[in-house]
Amino acid sequence: MSQVKYSDPGLTLNTAATIPSLGLGVYQLEGEECKELVLQALKTGYRLIDTAQFYRNENAVGQAVRESGIPREEIFITTKVQAGAHTVEGCKRKVEKSLSDLGLDYIDLFLIHGPLMGPEKRVDTWSNLVDFMHRSEGKIRAVGVSNFGIAHLEALREEGLEIPSVNQIELHPHLPQTPIVDYCKSKGIVIQAYCPLMRGQQNQASLGEGAGWAGKAGFGWDHEGLKGVAEKENMTIGQVLLKWSIQKGYCPQAKTSSPTRLKENLDVLHLPPLSEESMNELEKMNLEGREEEVGRLALEWNPVDCP
Ligand SMILES: NC(=O)c1ccc[n+]([C@@H]2O[C@H](COP(=O)([O-])OP(=O)(O)OC[C@H]3O[C@@H](n4cnc5c(N)ncnc54)[C@H](OP(=O)(O)O)[C@@H]3O)[C@@H](O)[C@H]2O)c1
Repeated sequence: MSQVKYSDPGLTLNTAATIPSLGLGVYQLEGEECKELVLQALKTGYRLIDTAQFYRNENAVGQAVRESGIPREEIFITTKVQAGAHTVEGCKRKVEKSLSDLGLDYIDLFLIHGPLMGPEKRVDTWSNLVDFMHRSEGKIRAVGVSNFGIAHLEALREEGLEIPSVNQIELHPHLPQTPIVDYCKSKGIVIQAYCPLMRGQQNQASLGEGAGWAGKAGFGWDHEGLKGVAEKENMTIGQVLLKWSIQKGYCPQAKTSSPTRLKENLDVLHLPPLSEESMNELEKMNLEGREEEVGRLALEWNPVDCP
């Protein structure tokens, strides 16, 4: 398979490992479709794939990685555990299940998918994952969390536990989650942005729980400021959103099932930065504090404030 080379400095994790600047998210892709898409993505030049036990496609992702012919060490695989890892045995079982479903010798980044298991199980899950990583002789290379708010992260710190390498949260110009971002940056936690494309051009309300603004005129991909930036920068709207995310220092996980859009999205790595003026224009899309007017802001579950 001929490979495209994108020059990508990536981001550095607190383990000293490098993570590519942009990932392909494979939520809602399954079986052969998922395998073919990941193969196509790897051929296009993607080197980071974001899966999860919940997505039921670790198998397809692993198959694609093995079939791609690309050296394993050039590809970065993230997966996530939802629940059941709060006991030592449970944690071992969950990690080994991912390794076996992926059919890979190691996982680059293993995340706790969300904080909903409650304070005690959350701390126990984190502690078990960190221990597993240290004892696993390289089967897990880094551990992190997803959808964690500041209080969840502080609780881990107060227990004297290691700082996560990554926090993956919903993040786009309508929902910049600045306090969590600032906290993570201050602790050296790399921020992965999910729903970085605000779920694309289609009616965003049709997927997940749906935000109050999704699908409404003047919001999302129909936002005048966003459309203006795309025109001025000579980029597509998708590219502007991904560029915004990368320029803010995040690592966006963008999903597409289209080979054409795979390339369009990855091409942001070769596009010049957005101007300061454009970045300022995109900051104006922030809807935080306007919930009463526009309704729920998050497109997905975003349980960053759960107890
Ligand atoms: N940790 C978590 O709790 C969590 C939650 C949600 C998502 N995620 C991760 O984040 C990834 C992305 O999230 P997401 O899929 O919800 O949202 P997203 O990446 O913001 O949007 C995906 C949508 O955008 C469309 N799209 C992609 N590129 C496009 C382009 N260039 N032009 C126009 N439309 C485009 C896609 O349609 P086409 O397929 O037709 O291109 C798809 O409908 C997931 O796959 C998953 O890996 C994590």
